[in-house]
Order: sequence, then structure tokens, then C-alpha cells
Amino acid sequence: MQQLIKNLVEAYGPSGFEDEVRALIRAEIEPFADEISVDAMGNLIALKKGNGSGKKVMIAAHMDEIGFMVSHISKEGFLRFANIGGVSNLHLSGTRAKFADGTIGVIYGERRTDRSKIGGLDKFYIDVGASSSDDCPVSVGDAGIFWQTFVERGDHLSSKAMDDRVCCAIGVAALQQLEDSAHDVYFVFTVQEEVGVRGATTAANRIMPDIGIALDVTLTGDTPNGAKMAVDLGKGPAIKVKDAGMIAHQGLVRLMRGAAESAEIPHQLEVLLGGSTDARAMQISGPGVIAGCISVPCRYVHSTSETVSLSDVKNSVKLLLEILGNPIDL
Ligand code: CO
Ligand code: ZN
Repeated sequence: MQQLIKNLVEAYGPSGFEDEVRALIRAEIEPFADEISVDAMGNLIALKKGNGSGKKVMIAAHMDEIGFMVSHISKEGFLRFANIGGVSNLHLSGTRAKFADGTIGVIYGERRTDRSKIGGLDKFYIDVGASSSDDCPVSVGDAGIFWQTFVERGDHLSSKAMDDRVCCAIGVAALQQLEDSAHDVYFVFTVQEEVGVRGATTAANRIMPDIGIALDVTLTGDTPNGAKMAVDLGKGPAIKVKDAGMIAHQGLVRLMRGAAESAEIPHQLEVLLGGSTDARAMQISGPGVIAGCISVPCRYVHSTSETVSLSDVKNSVKLLLEILGNPIDL
């Protein structure tokens, strides 16, 4: 599992440029899926057929990560950029930028005299070692990511792009291990979640599932002077009750809790104050869909050291298999 997570989180895949991640996942799941396809937006859709007596279930985990796109190159060779997704200026100075061709840049902020103030994204630039716009190895319109390698520290795993590749790994593991389900399960590895759940929207409209379950990370309340939030790292997958974009289907929340309890899987309930997931897109697709979300607690979301607990990851796979292995009558 750790090796799969490492391969996925270190892959390159800002929103709209998920090709490398998709190829990695496809290689892992191809032998286990009954049907596999890629739609026009780039969603990877893998169907694991049931015995015909169950529901049509869509599982969604997003392949994309936050990043940036070069918007301007100065004559001295410094890049300015637009954000792709929720990029925080608090995390930028000193982080490294990586481009699709492997070019590495250093991100830094313009000199400021007032230390209490951090500028907006327009006050940051990327230094790729060019001396002018003529010898700059990248172009306007090139996308990039915030680069950091994977590290394992006991039960804690840290990297960029845990959001949401750790859940791609959970989807891969569940697909590989799922046996004799009554349900037709569509495992969808979605694109462009970080820019507004765009891939999940089109995939859900195409699949028209009875039940939609997103797999994504959520914040925790267990760090010094952190947010007042009743989710801790290492205490099990969090069953989403509400976030800023959706209220999970009450019956599905009950079913998830019941599944966790009967299989003795540690779990917690999530009420997230901001943000949303692919579950929102599924819920309001077509005529409306019963939707919920299994969340992996994650510290330092949208930084280059997003941190999850391996035991939470393994318990998320267990919980998902428990749900898919039983009737879903709501
Ligand atoms: Co995110
Ligand atoms: Zn996410």
C-alpha cells in the first residue's frame, strides 16, 4: 500500500493534466475491471459488475492536484502564475515548482518590509534559473505543481498530493479486493475536482448511479490551536455528515455507520466548515442521487506535506468493502 501511495502522490497531475496519474491507475486496475474507459474530460471509469441484484454505485476519487499555470515571463526570466485550485500564499515561499518535463523552479515572494503582511499570489514569482525570457525553459500556458517527495514516518505518511491520490489508492485497493458484490460498482478516478468538481459532474451525468460515494481527504482539529473540528488523525475514516457544499444523505450516513460498527472499524463523524468534494457533484447530477463521502483525515491540506495515517487509509478500504459487500437499501 505504501509503495502504491508513493507512486501516486509523486506523479505529476495538476487539474486538467492528469495523464500520468491516469496511466498509473489504469495499469493497477486493468486486470481487475470488467470494463474500462476514459471519457472526453479524462475521467477513468472502471466497472466491476455485480450479480444483477444490487444497485448501481459510483465511487469517485479525484486524480488531480492543485498547481499553477505560467501567465507571464519577465525579460529577466522570472515567471508569474495563476493558481489552479486552492493555492494558499501562506505555503509558497521556498517551495519548489515542478513542470511536466521535470524542470524545477523555486517559488518566492517579492521582498517585503512589513513582516505582518503576506502578499497575494501576484506578489510571488518562480525562478527556474533562466537569465532572460529567451533562455527560459518553460512557456506561458505551461502548468506546474508544488513539488515534494513522499516520506513515511511510522504510521504517518507525508507528501504533496495526498489530496486526493491517497484516496485513488483506496479506490484501487478496493477494486482489486472486491469480490462477489451484488452491486455494479463504477470506480471513477475523476479529473478537475480542485477547480470545481468538474470531472465528477460529467461522469455522474453519464453513469446515472443510484448511490454516489466520494473518497476524499478532510481537515483535522488535532494540531496546536487548530480549528475546532471533531476529526483526529489516526482515529479512523471520517463519515461525512456535512460540508460547505453538501449535506450527505441521512440514510447513507446511517448505513455507513452501521457498516463500520458491525465490522468493528474505528470511525468518526465529519462536519467540515469549508470546502466540498465530488460527492456534491454526484448528489445534484441528473435527477438527484443518494450521495455521501468517506473522508481520510489529513493534516496540512493543500501544503506540500499533507499528512495522513496509514491505519486510517487501511480502515477506509475495509469500510468501503464492507459497504459494497452488503445490500444498500435506502
Ligand atoms: Co483539495
Ligand atoms: Zn480532494
